[in-house]
Amino acid sequence: MSHPSKHLLAIEGLEPPHIADLLDLAESYALLNRSGKTQRDLLKGRTLINLFFEDSTRTRTSFELAGKRLGADVINMSVSTSSVNKGETLLDTASTLNAMQCDLLVIRHAQSGAPALLSQKVDAAVINAGDGTHEHPTQALLDALTIRRHKGRLEGLVVAICGDITHSRVARSNIHLLTTMGSRVRIVGPPTLIPADAARLGVEVFTDMKKGLEGADVVMMLRLQRERMSGGLVPSAREFFRFYGLDAEKLAVAKPDSIVMHPGPMNRGVEIDSAIADHPTRSVIGEQVEMGVACRMAVLDVLARRLPRNR
Ligand code: CP
Repeated sequence: MSHPSKHLLAIEGLEPPHIADLLDLAESYALLNRSGKTQRDLLKGRTLINLFFEDSTRTRTSFELAGKRLGADVINMSVSTSSVNKGETLLDTASTLNAMQCDLLVIRHAQSGAPALLSQKVDAAVINAGDGTHEHPTQALLDALTIRRHKGRLEGLVVAICGDITHSRVARSNIHLLTTMGSRVRIVGPPTLIPADAARLGVEVFTDMKKGLEGADVVMMLRLQRERMSGGLVPSAREFFRFYGLDAEKLAVAKPDSIVMHPGPMNRGVEIDSAIADHPTRSVIGEQVEMGVACRMAVLDVLARRLPRNR
């Protein structure tokens, strides 16, 4: 099992064997989870702290479940009732947790680069659970695992990532992972939500939804992140749905066996129609959540192997 770092801060920089190893291990955890068994000896005596400065349902809960299924002591630090509210800085908060001998620190923060900064200041292994518009590496891993389970491979697939690309750390991590593993990635959205550096990312850019979806194996919808927008980048939710929301008519131009993904939380009727989000055969959104637990178990497992035993 190869992993190039003590931390998991980004997908960018990982090589195909690192990603393949993590996905293979995650697949074994997916099977273990479905069997109802656990492996509580693996992280016995280890402490995992969830430090979320932004809201989360899926990521925080699945890291908690993953840690507990592997036997770690898991603490969800409530930032809203912590001394952060008294003016304590991010680094002082991290130093405090470090002094308590935390082994694994899972952090989500609105500032891109916050987990990387912390990783230089603490002894714990740091896992990026989403930083600003930069990366969300475990989301890309769980997305890749879900795709691989349905399509049997990542290489050669046409993956259309659609919607608010500019503000999406999910899109960035997925672009890095999928292009590294040989997929053909398209980004599809209004010109105002396509990042200026798109050409550098090794993707094809489409501003017409049907052209972008034509022949796609995978259609990945993204949430419109109004909280990160300044100014009117999209006219209205209704208008956005008309041109860029995924409905049956637009999906019809993708491959007949294409799968539909969304990292959640979804804005139904804005980026995706409910009939597509809940489609019994095309939507794999529920499976993405399930694979999130398995992938986070794999990441905790791999990083814990590199930790010194007696901290
Ligand atoms: N996909 C994702 O990161 O969801 P949460 O914000 O609920 O963690």
